[in-house]
Amino acid sequence: MGRRQPGADPPQGRPRIRIRRDEAAELQVRITVEYWRQNGPTDPGHFESRQVETDEHSSFLEMLDVLNEDLFAEGKEPVAFDSDCREGICGQCGLVINGDPHGPEKTTTCQLHMRSFKDGDTITIEPWRSTGFPVLKDLVVDRSAFDRIIQAGGYISVNTGAAPDAHAQPVPKVDADLAFEAAACIGCGACVAACPNGSGMLFTSAKVVHLGLLPQGQPERATRALNMVRQHDDEGFGGCTNIGECQSACPKDIPIEFISMLNKDLRLGASK
Ligand code: SF4
Ligand code: FES
Repeated sequence: MGRRQPGADPPQGRPRIRIRRDEAAELQVRITVEYWRQNGPTDPGHFESRQVETDEHSSFLEMLDVLNEDLFAEGKEPVAFDSDCREGICGQCGLVINGDPHGPEKTTTCQLHMRSFKDGDTITIEPWRSTGFPVLKDLVVDRSAFDRIIQAGGYISVNTGAAPDAHAQPVPKVDADLAFEAAACIGCGACVAACPNGSGMLFTSAKVVHLGLLPQGQPERATRALNMVRQHDDEGFGGCTNIGECQSACPKDIPIEFISMLNKDLRLGASK
């Protein structure tokens, strides 16, 4: 039998063996990065540009680490950007990449890899742009407005008891699943960055819904929604007009239907 050509289907019944590409051809990615520089909220800011060499398996943040090592080696100031867990959990790492919050994949910036780009690409990197998220430095924004929205929700007055008591409290499966879905919000702010109105309602709705569905969240349910939305507006975020860009950009698939659920609680609060 003749030698099988790479990529050809194997004879019937034989396993398909993946033929690795040449390592060197697989690894190299040379890109031009256009990154935002800004010295504080009042500085008008500007783009700078330079080439970065990395490999396709690097994460996007590792590519920025390489950029900063190059800048540092030349005695230049590194570009400020935020990150913490680098595992898609903490929500710290948001960047607008080529115009999209978190870039071309539906994931967090830290979980984006350079294989999503081509050798020779030019990549534009900007901070979240919203009145509610002032730029602190370069690509870092102040997202403490989200903390104040959560804080405005206040505490729950019921005694939840110890862990065994929590297990003894019956919660309908459908509510438990929805509450869990809402609790997946990591507060990254991509929903705000994607919204033409700069609205933070998807985030706020996730926080309102995840407590509002549980028995322990009932006593303050209506006032919590009212106070959190008031704080949302005071922080300078825009109103929701159901455009839906927020849910498209959300790396945790928080659905826009949560905003309808928030509005129901809001009506309850307003009628009290
Ligand atoms: S709703 Fe989604 S996009 Fe908005 S803060 Fe939460 S996780 Fe991020
Ligand atoms: S660094 Fe934590 S989610 Fe990206």
